[in-house]
Amino acid sequence: MTVLEAIESRRAAKAFDPNHMLPEAHLREILRAGALAPTAFNIQHNRLLVVKNPEIRRKLRAVSWDQPQVTDASALIVVCADVQAWRKNPARYWRNAPEKVQDTLVDAIKAFYTDRDQAQRDEALRSSGMAAMNLMLAAKSLGYDSCPMDGFDFEAVAKIIHLPDDHLISMFVAIGRNTVPPKARSGFLEDHERFFEDGFPVSGGSQASIAICVSPSV
Ligand SMILES: Cc1cc2nc3c(=O)[nH]c(=O)nc-3n(C[C@H](O)[C@H](O)[C@H](O)COP(=O)(O)O)c2cc1C
Repeated sequence: MTVLEAIESRRAAKAFDPNHMLPEAHLREILRAGALAPTAFNIQHNRLLVVKNPEIRRKLRAVSWDQPQVTDASALIVVCADVQAWRKNPARYWRNAPEKVQDTLVDAIKAFYTDRDQAQRDEALRSSGMAAMNLMLAAKSLGYDSCPMDGFDFEAVAKIIHLPDDHLISMFVAIGRNTVPPKARSGFLEDHERFFEDGFPVSGGSQASIAICVSPSV
């Protein structure tokens, strides 16, 4: 399967086969794909927590609007991020680079994040979003379905998984075999609402028309 085929065929799974087991080797490949996602300054903020214990899964489902994917998925990954990773010995993110490059990057990291709470959080979320997407595309390419999820009580989940105070939860990625074929895509936006050229239209200006998306089939 090509990357484009994985992107086109990935859909959010709503009903996983609770009896399906994900081979450990595939889980590791999927996690590795998550870890290979790009991160700002190579900080690798992502922390990928796999929930294997059925009792913990049940507790998570209870605080996730009782969504069945939480217990029925073959793998449930809580995609988290260490918001303070930028200050935790940042030289290690560049330890294989020449010393001069390492020093420059460490200075740049400090300059970018120091006293910028929102930037710290934004970057952690950006990077973990990319990791989540990698998990889902890797799962698809190995023949599995997935569902990104944030329909849960973040504070309650944080307690259940013992989330450190300086970490955040980005989303769950549930992975397994979907038992129900996905419905046709609902409400896909028109091209003119999504694609722009050179800038957003200003009042009185004309709207560039880019036709990129042939209506996706399913
Ligand atoms: C951040 C995020 C949170 C989501 N949370 C849930 C969720 O809690 N439960 C669920 O069933 N689907 C959830 N979804 C899946 C979306 O409903 C789905 O991706 C969207 O409707 C588009 O459908 P598609 O992924 O099949 O193209 C979430 C998606 C994202 C990106």
